[in-house]
Amino acid sequence: MASLIMIFGATGDLAKRKLFPSLYRLFERGKLSERFAVIGVGRRTLSNDEFQKSVKESVSAALGEKQDIEQFVNHFYYQSHDVADSSSYAALRKLADEIDEHYQLDGNRIFYLAMAPEFFGPIALHLKSDGLTDVKGYKRLVIEKPFGHDLESAKELNKQIRTAFSEEEIYRIDHYLGKEMVRNIEVIRFANAIFEPLWNNRYISNIQVTSSESLGVEERGRYYESSGALRDMLQNHMLQMVALLAMEPPISLTTDEIRSEKVRVFRSLRTIKGEEVKNYFVRGQYDAGTINGNQVPKYRDEPMVDQESNTETFVAGKVMIDNFRWAGVPFYIRTGKRMETKSTKIVIQFKDIPMNLYYQPEKMLNPNLLVIHIQPEEGITLHLNAKHAGGHLDAQTVKLSFSNTGTNAMNTPEGYEKLLYDCMRGDATNFTHWDEVAYSWAFVDKISNVWANEKADFPNYASGTMGPEAADKLLEKDGFFWWPVA
Ligand code: BG6
Repeated sequence: MASLIMIFGATGDLAKRKLFPSLYRLFERGKLSERFAVIGVGRRTLSNDEFQKSVKESVSAALGEKQDIEQFVNHFYYQSHDVADSSSYAALRKLADEIDEHYQLDGNRIFYLAMAPEFFGPIALHLKSDGLTDVKGYKRLVIEKPFGHDLESAKELNKQIRTAFSEEEIYRIDHYLGKEMVRNIEVIRFANAIFEPLWNNRYISNIQVTSSESLGVEERGRYYESSGALRDMLQNHMLQMVALLAMEPPISLTTDEIRSEKVRVFRSLRTIKGEEVKNYFVRGQYDAGTINGNQVPKYRDEPMVDQESNTETFVAGKVMIDNFRWAGVPFYIRTGKRMETKSTKIVIQFKDIPMNLYYQPEKMLNPNLLVIHIQPEEGITLHLNAKHAGGHLDAQTVKLSFSNTGTNAMNTPEGYEKLLYDCMRGDATNFTHWDEVAYSWAFVDKISNVWANEKADFPNYASGTMGPEAADKLLEKDGFFWWPVA
């Protein structure tokens, strides 16, 4: 698996926080062969030594001091670069060819674009026109989000990168697909005789996916103002989780089969547009409040944010999948910043049993729930009803729990580590195909168009809460409520 990895944006935050530590972990586990090298590409002028020092620092900040760190960073090189200048690409090509020769990398190249999205298209075009993709081995493009701002811009971006790379060579990152428990969704569904037969509108009443964050927008005001929770989280991470929950069993576990089943879910999403948007979607923006005992400011007082901002920091929606399996089953999704806790959870609520023998007027029987804990805890909990020891024949909720972290804590690899490894092996299953991106933008654009044209009554939820009241009403009117995620 010899490969040369070029990281564009090597002095940036993502490279330091995620990519270098993840590469180190692969190295430590023996998953990188001796035949690997990294070229950090960035605007700044740095010597190889300075670059290696920053790689060392980011590894030790994330993972502590490591004995074999010198051996690891010896594989790192730095090239200062101007993304718009062909002579810069010529210099990069020369360095890449030398390193390729030195480490016998067979011409295998991964281009990782960890930088501002406006550069994605131009870089891809240059990589081709300046000969960097002219290799005898494989060439792969790894691209971070956001993949466009809407369907139109995503199409344009796709057109540009497709001139240099084929769809099979493009690895669009959705880092939620690197999370251990997101990957576990399909195993839980398709490897258990007790779930799959019930996984449909006959037995499931609704599904709830919550991804809450307690952090605010931090230093990302400029980006976030033009994005908002709908584009930042829902178009990608939230809809990807919905697709994994809703897809049909694939014929096999190959990339193409899984992706085509996911695409079918995206194709079945009920379009919500115009006047209907307010019946299906709720937006929110955080006000000041208290989180973990600390006072935090409102969104409009964050750096680089407009005092009159109409940008949503919270979104909740009811997504309907109009196909045979899911007709009538709402998928409620919500995500937001400055909420009560940092937590991602999926709750599958099963329908009530046909007749409740254990009914007591003051005590309803709780429905069966399957809770998939994505983060920070990782595991599953199944809520059942059973008689408590010694009691009467009345049913009470008992919980069967499996915790991934409990058994596996030290070994749970970071999402990025898995995604990088997948890319090196050429496994694109957990990356998003263009069709998924296109369908999800088409879905989201209809909502953002309506919101862009109507001024919202913001701020409408206090920091440290679970979002605006309207998000609760969204479920109440269907006779449901958000199951507590804590
Ligand atoms: C990113 C968003 O894609 O996901 C961020 O741009 C968000 O705004 C982050 O904070 C959440 O990821 P995680 O892994 O912390 O849940």
